[in-house]
Amino acid sequence: KVDESINTDIITLPRFIIESQKQHPKAKGDFSLVLNALQFAFKFISQTIRKAELVNLIGLTGDINSTGDQQKKLDVLGDEIFINAMKSSSIVKILVSEEQENLIYFDENEPKYAICCDPIDGSSNLDAGVSVGTIVSIFRLLPNSDGSTTDVLRCGKEMVGACYAMYGSSTHLMLCMGDEIDGFTLDNNLGEFILTYPNLKIPSHNLIYSINEGNSYYWDDSIVTFVQKLKTPDQETGGKPFSSRYIGSMVADMHRTFLYGGLFAYPSDRKNPNGKLRLLYEAFPMAFLVEHAGGKAVNDQGVRILDLQAEHIHDKSSIWIGSADDVDKYLKHIGKL
Ligand code: AHG
Ligand code: MN
Ligand code: MN
Ligand code: MN
Repeated sequence: KVDESINTDIITLPRFIIESQKQHPKAKGDFSLVLNALQFAFKFISQTIRKAELVNLIGLTGDINSTGDQQKKLDVLGDEIFINAMKSSSIVKILVSEEQENLIYFDENEPKYAICCDPIDGSSNLDAGVSVGTIVSIFRLLPNSDGSTTDVLRCGKEMVGACYAMYGSSTHLMLCMGDEIDGFTLDNNLGEFILTYPNLKIPSHNLIYSINEGNSYYWDDSIVTFVQKLKTPDQETGGKPFSSRYIGSMVADMHRTFLYGGLFAYPSDRKNPNGKLRLLYEAFPMAFLVEHAGGKAVNDQGVRILDLQAEHIHDKSSIWIGSADDVDKYLKHIGKL
């Protein structure tokens, strides 16, 4: 070997997909078409975000999207990139996007998959150069369906896969195709995602809580008391209080939670009776990933997120998600464990 420091046998995402398909002989290769389109969208959005400030792409468009958020120019561009990537996949039939009021239907594609996406998560942070991401849930269409809202207004546990890309110091991809979760890092020179976190498991506990405490004035007393408990040292937490970490991009707060452990929450409050995060493209995909990494995700009432079912494509849900022991603390607090 000429240079021992260079690993010439790396596992790229395409190689990973081929090898996973060999382990699932019944898989027809469909899923690889979806992943191929997804990874292209992630690379394209990643590049666009990284040059945004230099080409005048930061700031607001002046429009409001279907869940009431002010749209940023990059929300719209990220959405366009994502839509075109799914359209070119040949087998994604329908797409739900945070930035589109209605479901998008691709006439020309085979009726196989439905995708729900948050093209840019954390977009209010964009102008400050803080990490943002793209979150995706994947459903297979119902038998004999030609693609309609019924294919996505289902329980989260019916998803066949989920992933997110996070555009941080590097671009990371966390992917679950129904078994384990695997993490990849984008090598910008090769233009490939490289497997860096195989079979990632979330730590079962860490003294970190992540919540927008500025909303506490509007919280129910039970939530105020619970968060106060986290900040009070007791035997259970090893005599130390929890530390607070809140970025304000779910994807970045969850990426830290996957790697370090802890608890992330966006509960409901008097202003937002169902919380803020959207079920189909924020709560479901993160809950799917976290459960496959050994963690848990429930709503304010302690109901498993993946047992919920949306009635409308932009429905919201409260969420408590992260390390199993830390979500259990919340469940014990509300008497559900
Ligand atoms: P998006 O940028 O896709 O609209 O999502 C925003 C979400 C999520 O990323 C984050 O966890 C949360 O909003 C932050 O909300 P607050 O600013 O109310 O804390
Ligand atoms: Mn938004
Ligand atoms: Mn979001
Ligand atoms: Mn968004």
